Amino acid sequence: MKLIIINGPNLNLLGKREPEVYGSHSFDDLFVDLKKKYPQMELEYYQSNIEGELIDKLHEVGFDYDGVILNAAAYTHTSVGIGDAVKAIDTPVVEVHISNVHSREDFRHKSFIAANAKGVIFGFGLKSYELAIQSFL
Ligand code: DQA
Repeated sequence: MKLIIINGPNLNLLGKREPEVYGSHSFDDLFVDLKKKYPQMELEYYQSNIEGELIDKLHEVGFDYDGVILNAAAYTHTSVGIGDAVKAIDTPVVEVHISNVHSREDFRHKSFIAANAKGVIFGFGLKSYELAIQSFL
C-alpha cells in the first residue's frame, strides 16, 4: 500500500517550533520510526511552505497512491484551493493535526479540507500521524 504524508507550512520546524504545542521531536525522526514500524506500507513524505506546491503534489499523487495523510497546517483554515484539490483527486485523504485545533483559537475550527476528507484525526500529538496510517490498514 502506497501512502504519502504531506505537511504544510511551518511543519519543517517541528521540534523547534512552539514545543509546548507541537512537541520536541522533529518530523524526520518520526518518519524513520514510522517506516520501521510499518514496513508493509510504502511510505513517502513531502513538505512545502508553498500553497501551490502542495496542490501540485496532491495532483501528482492523487490518482494512483492508495492514501494521502495531509496536515495542511495553517492552509487548512484558509485555502479553498487545497480544499478543491482534495475534492478533485481520487485518492482518499485523511486530514491530520498534531494539536487539538478545536481547543484553540476560533479561526482554527474551520477546515476547507474536512468535508472532502475520508476522516480527520487531531489532538494526539505526533501520534496523530500513526493513527492516520492505521486507518488505512
Ligand atoms: C496544525 C494546526 C494548525 O492550526 C496550525 O496552523 C499548524 C499546525 C497542527 O498540526 O496542529 O501549523 O495543523
